[in-house]
Amino acid sequence: MTKDAPQPRHVAIIMDGNGRWAQLRGRPRLFGHAAGARRVKEIVRACPALGVSYLTIFAFSTENWKRTQTEVAGLMRLFKRYIRREAQSLFEENVRVRFIGDRVRLEPALVDLMDGLELMTANNTGTNLTIALNYGGRDEVTRAARRLAHDVAMGKLDPRTISDETFPRYLDTHVLPDPDLVIRTSGEARISNFLLWQSAYAEYEFIDTLWPDFTPAVFAEVLARYSLRERRFGAVTV
Ligand code: FPP
Repeated sequence: MTKDAPQPRHVAIIMDGNGRWAQLRGRPRLFGHAAGARRVKEIVRACPALGVSYLTIFAFSTENWKRTQTEVAGLMRLFKRYIRREAQSLFEENVRVRFIGDRVRLEPALVDLMDGLELMTANNTGTNLTIALNYGGRDEVTRAARRLAHDVAMGKLDPRTISDETFPRYLDTHVLPDPDLVIRTSGEARISNFLLWQSAYAEYEFIDTLWPDFTPAVFAEVLARYSLRERRFGAVTV
């Protein structure tokens, strides 16, 4: 990468392929999720050296409830364990953690841990890690529309003033910049309801690597490819 090559400030990742990774080893799917969680830690740690200030990861979607009860319960246990185990090191490494998604359906013990980690890291100034948990792009836009309609009904917002700058203030991501780059691992080329509004001008990288094999070296390679791209945001290059 040259010194002047554009670096993505905000990278969002659809961490896919844990199940297949486990299956290839003859192990249960949750074994793959646990390996995926260990990878999350390394990737978060790699961000400062790679110049990534915002990292957003898709941990559980509004559609993932359709998985077996065993897998869903195992994932919820894994999230709680991850927060309990990693809170102190995330704090010490100056990571600011936020969660996006609808918390209403999540169990109170998990929501308490999420709130606690957000509060604990609220004054950190390093990598901004956002974990999407019970997140769906359509659900987020719907919830935003509901809140916006409420403000209109309460006389707090004049509908004539609503612009594409007003609307994102109602999204879960209202304090985050839009992602520059969205990566999906495991060879699937779809966006699965992730950051629908925010990714309007994002670059996409679909790579074959399964999430538990996504090392910081693979991350660096993807970022190097990004730096060769030309982003035009709908304009033409003169
Ligand atoms: C998709 O792989 C992965 C998930 C639905 C869960 C993502 C969770 C983690 C990486 C673990 C923990 C995360 C945190 C933040 C601690 P898949 O199960 O759909 O894989 P498959 O397509 O091969 O079946």
